[in-house]
Parts: sequence; C-alpha cells; structure tokens
Amino acid sequence: MKTMMLSMVAATALMIAGGAMAVDMPKSAKKNGCTNCHKIDKKVVGPSWQAVADKYKGDPSATAKLSTKIVKGGGGVWGAVPMPATPKISDAEVKEIVTFIRGLAK
Ligand code: HEC
Repeated sequence: MKTMMLSMVAATALMIAGGAMAVDMPKSAKKNGCTNCHKIDKKVVGPSWQAVADKYKGDPSATAKLSTKIVKGGGGVWGAVPMPATPKISDAEVKEIVTFIRGLAK
C-alpha cells in the first residue's frame, strides 16, 4: 500500500516536470550540466540555443555535427572559449537535445 502511494507521488512529479519541459530546457540538458553554460534566449558561457538553431537552420548536416560536438567538446565557432566534452551523455539524450535546439529555429 505504501509502495503504491509512493509510485503515485512519483508519477505526479513526473507529470509536473513534463509540463514544464514545453517552455524550458529538456530535463536531459539539466542532468548533463548544459544549463550551466547555455540558456535558450541568452548567451551565458556558451551561445544561446536560439542563436545556434538560427545559425544552422536549413543545414541538414548540422544535426550530426552538433551531436559530435556535444559529446567531444570543441571551440572556434562562437568565440575563444571552447565547450568541454560530455562523454557520459547517452545517444538518446544527445538526440533529444539536438532535436530540441534545432526545433527553436525561426
Ligand atoms: C562549461 C560551459 C559549457 C557547458 C557545460 C556546455 N557548453 Fe555548449 N558550448 C559552450 C561554449 C563556450 C560553446 C561555443 C564553442 C565554439 O565556439 O565552438 C558551446 C557551443 C555549443 C553548441 C554549438 C556548437 C557549434 O559548433 O556551433 C551546442 C549545440 C552546445 N554547445 C550544446 C551543449 C549541450 C547539449 C551541452 C550539455 C551536454 C553543453 N553545450 C554544455 C559552453 C558549454
């Protein structure tokens, strides 16, 4: 009985988190520390994800390029500061985040 109540609480928490994701960065971006350096609409340490989306709009090769860069890190595109590697991120999370970023393009 106690277990069932706990799982109901967990399910409710998930639903709330899911609702926030529509306007917010994906949960995987928070989990992997991306949000420390990126915001959607404002440059922090790294470029805003809106700017990234607009830069690669209409470039089909960018999905692969950005995915590799997220995992391996690197610099030279936006300024002098390089992005650190995130080797522990899963393929599914990279895909989710890149899809999210590309979806911001106007
Ligand atoms: C320590 C700060 C930092 C963290 C953490 C970080 N980034 Fe970055 N990110 C940067 C910087 C700086 C750049 C610009 C690099 C350049 O000029 O090539 C960048 C660039 C990018 C770009 C554009 C790459 C390009 O070549 O145009 C994407 C996409 C990106 N980051 C996604 C992510 C994701 C996803 C994560 C989390 C897994 C993440 N970043 C974590 C600092 C960071």
